[in-house]
Amino acid sequence: KNIKIKVPATIANLVCGFDILGMAINEPYDEMELRLLESPDIIIRHTDSFNLPEEASKNVAGAVLLKIQTHLNLKNGFEVIIHKNIKPGSGLGSSAASAAGAAFAANHLLGNVLSKEEMVHFAMFGEELASGVRHADNIAPCMYGGIALIKSSDPIDIIPLNTPDLFIAAVHPQVEVKTSDARQILKKNISMKDAIQQWGNIAGLIAGIEKNDLTLIGRSLNDGIVEPVRSILIPQFHEIKTKSLELGALGGGISGSGPSVFMVTEKEEKAHEIARMMKAVYDEIKIESFVYVSEIN
Ligand code: HSE
Repeated sequence: KNIKIKVPATIANLVCGFDILGMAINEPYDEMELRLLESPDIIIRHTDSFNLPEEASKNVAGAVLLKIQTHLNLKNGFEVIIHKNIKPGSGLGSSAASAAGAAFAANHLLGNVLSKEEMVHFAMFGEELASGVRHADNIAPCMYGGIALIKSSDPIDIIPLNTPDLFIAAVHPQVEVKTSDARQILKKNISMKDAIQQWGNIAGLIAGIEKNDLTLIGRSLNDGIVEPVRSILIPQFHEIKTKSLELGALGGGISGSGPSVFMVTEKEEKAHEIARMMKAVYDEIKIESFVYVSEIN
């Protein structure tokens, strides 16, 4: 038995929704093929050129499959072929794609023995291996599709939201930002004043998503807590954001823990225009970058 799947990139956090809001997009995506084995081996093979570890316990997909194997007391193993297009370390949910894809495909091969929440639970072990943090804001939208609210990750309580008619321009500059570092630098405490602003933005964002009110989404994509700290790790962040807004972006911010930056627009052509500007900004300072124009998936 085998299964071939496409696994989407994800943008999480959605700016003010730190660790609680994420969305799946249709570009880029990984391809994975899983085969159920009679033997208990977990064999991982990459057909991309990222040199990711293939030893099961050190591989994100492998770590998830090992947990599922132990939990279900399986005699079977899996052979996994991964073709990664979502660049590791981009902030576009590369590790979440491997983790969620492995949990989803294994569950299918085993005859759907796990609930969606259980698949998220097991996939989070892959995120833990990749970044040391068991966050679900990439895993959940990857698994459920669209935009997902992680109301709680322990116990897992995920609310799939509406899919507004948005286009997304994203840029991945080739600079290294480790999720663990990008979390370390955050403030441990925030003021009541900042908290009130942030939950106003989050509530506005959720209302905008549910009502397909794109301007409300745009003006709610503000983050006075995480972005001011993390943006210092991303070259030209403020230039990209200001120019995007001038070109008509509704709003945007850092994708995940960076270094990718994303902007949302109402029209596809606008997203292409913004993507061209993003590339030009990094070309100017000789930083290689990759741009993507996508829709919510
Ligand atoms: N929510 C996580 C963070 C996502 O921002 O640290 C990292 O991929």
